[in-house]
Amino acid sequence: MLESLSRVIIHAPHIPLLRHLALRCQTSAMTHSHAFEQSLETVASHCEDPVPLVYAQIFEHYPEMEALFILDTDHGARGHMLNEALSCAQDLLGPDTFATSFIAAERQNHEGYAITDDIFEAFFTTMHSVFRGLSNGEWTPAMDAAWQAVFEKVAAARL
Ligand code: HEM
Repeated sequence: MLESLSRVIIHAPHIPLLRHLALRCQTSAMTHSHAFEQSLETVASHCEDPVPLVYAQIFEHYPEMEALFILDTDHGARGHMLNEALSCAQDLLGPDTFATSFIAAERQNHEGYAITDDIFEAFFTTMHSVFRGLSNGEWTPAMDAAWQAVFEKVAAARL
């Protein structure tokens, strides 16, 4: 609410409190976005391909999900899915040009695979946990806060 408000009232110099809140909101969104990108850079600098590790953790927690990927022999769908999820996270921390509707639609598409909302959202917490583990001690509280904001925004992204 405040975030969308901030876009409108950021140029309201005569309402100092609103302007202050709007700026604070914008700054926090920018910080999350920056920290999120830094978290991805950290992972990239320590691991060439985190995709198999993310799916290994998903399948450890939800063994029944592995069989759903049987046709994905070249792991292309796995990589594409992860890439889309990261793009959504980035967009959710920024302008949200597509992520909320994309996630809401994918929740429904995934129902066809018996993937509940909990499992769908676990994809994001799993990425966070794997990435954090790969960071070689470079993970920061700001990165955790950014990912926490992603979890909350994903949980709210529904039709
Ligand atoms: C643990 C959670 C999830 C599971 C188990 C899951 C499972 C699947 C499965 C079985 C497929 C079909 C793979 C194939 O065609 O061989 C798929 C495709 C896809 N999923 Fe997920 N999904 C999850 C979460 C997500 C999330 C969070 C997103 C994005 C926000 C997402 C986006 C997609 C997309 C875009 C495709 C199409 C990929 C392609 O065919 O190239 N999925 N998912």
